[in-house]
Amino acid sequence: MYAITGITGKVGGVAARALLSEGQRVRAVVRNADKGRLWSELGCEVAIAEVEDAAALTRAFTDVTGVFILPPSNFDPKPGFPEARAVISAVRQALDATRPAKVVCLSTIGAQALQSNLLSQRTLMEEGLSRLPLPVTFLRPAWFMENVGWDIDRAREQGVISCFLQPLDKAMPMVATADVGRVAAELLRQDWSGKRVVELEGPDWVTQNEIASELAKALHRPVRAEAVPRESWGAIFRAQGMRDPIPRIQMLDGFNEGWIKFEGNGATLIKGNTSLLEVIQNLVG
Ligand SMILES: NC(=O)c1ccc[n+]([C@@H]2O[C@H](COP(=O)([O-])OP(=O)(O)OC[C@H]3O[C@@H](n4cnc5c(N)ncnc54)[C@H](OP(=O)(O)O)[C@@H]3O)[C@@H](O)[C@H]2O)c1
Repeated sequence: MYAITGITGKVGGVAARALLSEGQRVRAVVRNADKGRLWSELGCEVAIAEVEDAAALTRAFTDVTGVFILPPSNFDPKPGFPEARAVISAVRQALDATRPAKVVCLSTIGAQALQSNLLSQRTLMEEGLSRLPLPVTFLRPAWFMENVGWDIDRAREQGVISCFLQPLDKAMPMVATADVGRVAAELLRQDWSGKRVVELEGPDWVTQNEIASELAKALHRPVRAEAVPRESWGAIFRAQGMRDPIPRIQMLDGFNEGWIKFEGNGATLIKGNTSLLEVIQNLVG
């Protein structure tokens, strides 16, 4: 039995379906009974837990072989990342109490970076779970290709995408969530000891100009990439409702300046096979 958190989202959903298709038993960890109904119909056990609730997670992780931890995204954390720390504390307590045979935790490219930024939330998660006496794999995917979803309306209507990753001709590793979920399921089926890091990218590195040209193919209209001036980012993010855009800006700086990158250094690097065009066609369709 594998307990899957984040199962109603993109990565967790793919991971769970991959395990089910291999005849594995899955416990769907969801936030309420409504969200569990589909998974129950697909043959899963259902456990109700918020990822900040140690007692509920302990029930959800009891008597399973493997656990998949998907820390929820928080683009606008409070200073010192208290929200992420609450999740880490609850997950640690639940894993310590239940001691599953193995854990796969979704982390991120650049979790090893020393400079503070949005992704430091995952640095803290890796530090917290590394202290557990359990086999833990940290799966560090590249930038998700599905982030293009934020650009589709403007591309369709105005033929432009606004780019924070810069310069526009700089290729960066990206990966489809279909590959992230599939690899997460494969890792859960493996046996290993101690801590390991698996880094995951797509078939090719991608530039912002290439994203525009793939969007143009999928939308059957010209689309160009436009760099958003860095000095305007703070005001843009605040206008979108963010209280503190600094961690997000630091993360974008990290990608653009190259200090958010794959660590290498003994980590396994895996390549996914889903192309950017496939992801964009799905998003557009
Ligand atoms: N975007 C990127 O470029 C990128 C790159 C590398 C790594 N990542 C990592 O990928 C993860 C996001 O994966 P995704 O795109 O699959 O996410 P997603 O589609 O947004 O799904 C999020 C999942 O988390 C659940 N969730 C949210 N808050 C929760 C809470 N308080 N308690 C319990 N469950 C909660 C959601 O459940 P509900 O249905 O109940 O809301 C949903 O199942 C994050 O950890 C992020 O750091 C992202």
